[in-house]
Amino acid sequence: MKITGKKELISVIKDRIKREGEISFRDFMDMALYYPELGYYTSPQEKIGGFGDFYTASELDRAFGELIGKQFVEIYEKVKENPFQIVEIGAGKGYLAYDILNFLKKEHPEVYGNTEYIIIEKSPYHIKIQKEILSDFEIVRWVQDIIDFEDESINGVIFSNELFDAFPVHLIRKVKGKIFEVFITIDEEDNIREILKEASEDILRYIKELNLQIPEGMQTEINLDASEYIQKIGKKLKKGYVITVDYGYPSSELYKPYRMRGTLLCYYRHRYSENFYENVGMQDITSHVNFSALKYYGMLAGLDFTGFTDQAHFLTNLGLMEILQELQEKNDYESFERLNRLKTLVLPKGMGEKFKVLVQHKNIDNPSIKGLDMLPYMSDRYRL
Ligand SMILES: C[S@@+](CC[C@H](N)C(=O)[O-])C[C@H]1O[C@@H](n2cnc3c(N)ncnc32)[C@H](O)[C@@H]1O
Repeated sequence: MKITGKKELISVIKDRIKREGEISFRDFMDMALYYPELGYYTSPQEKIGGFGDFYTASELDRAFGELIGKQFVEIYEKVKENPFQIVEIGAGKGYLAYDILNFLKKEHPEVYGNTEYIIIEKSPYHIKIQKEILSDFEIVRWVQDIIDFEDESINGVIFSNELFDAFPVHLIRKVKGKIFEVFITIDEEDNIREILKEASEDILRYIKELNLQIPEGMQTEINLDASEYIQKIGKKLKKGYVITVDYGYPSSELYKPYRMRGTLLCYYRHRYSENFYENVGMQDITSHVNFSALKYYGMLAGLDFTGFTDQAHFLTNLGLMEILQELQEKNDYESFERLNRLKTLVLPKGMGEKFKVLVQHKNIDNPSIKGLDMLPYMSDRYRL
């Protein structure tokens, strides 16, 4: 297979393979997305929005941030700690943070006054944009990594929108009843070649712990980085919630036989492909999140399960329909445009059903929250 994309990044990847021998697909994906200055997320190019490669809900309309802000106000009242901390991980261009902060500052100044908004972001390009857009909010600060917090030191809410889908994943394949891992190497013609090696102990342990039923012949992803990260989050939280918004499924749905090629996809200028080795460093590579894994490994780190729902139900419980109604009644062009954009957040074919919300908590007596009031019909897609 030809490898195409950013020349300097491709040489770095090839040099590493020449030096070390074959590398795991996970390490290839990590370099393609995060290699300093050259990776997709670490280099200065537009990624999210009309001029980028994909949209996120944060970009669509301020109502998304306002409704999440509303949920944080309820959480603030439950956590009752001063300062109340909102930790956003992987904040992208900072639009969601902007809408949440604006909502709190205007509608709930007392909450705003007692809040610290902390961003953890891996992309220097995104940090630069965040610092510009959030310069009016004096309660925002940046922390390099979740491990920089002391254990059990965060009181409040740790949340992310489309973070875990951007983590590098291990690619595995089941052949004749045995699990193999995909590695990549370079052949005599300087092309990329995938080879299979026996899966590592860590991968086999993950499959066993989550009781995954991988069908024969399936190639799929194992997100060990996500399982480690949710444990780090769990250890740092003292009292409060973890809210994870992303697309994905429980294990029982992710490894169904009709997903024989897994869920890994690339996005380049709003078109998707399954060729991970083209546009390297210029395209996003992303996979569906295994929410059963986040629940299970979160529990190991002290996070209790509060609930699992989809974005449509979550936002509706928080008042999206009232916002839609108000816009409908306004009858002006801007409201009409907003109405159309907002429908994307809830329609099943838009982001409404595909995107899920996992809520976990620690040291909270009566943990139920408004976003989980009415839950979707309990099919396999919602049973973690
Ligand atoms: C798909 S984008 C989503 C951005 C934003 N949350 C939104 O809704 O538009 C993923 C973001 O997570 C960041 N990211 C990925 N891994 C990270 C990590 N381990 N720590 C912090 N940020 C990370 C990426 O740099 C990128 O900004």
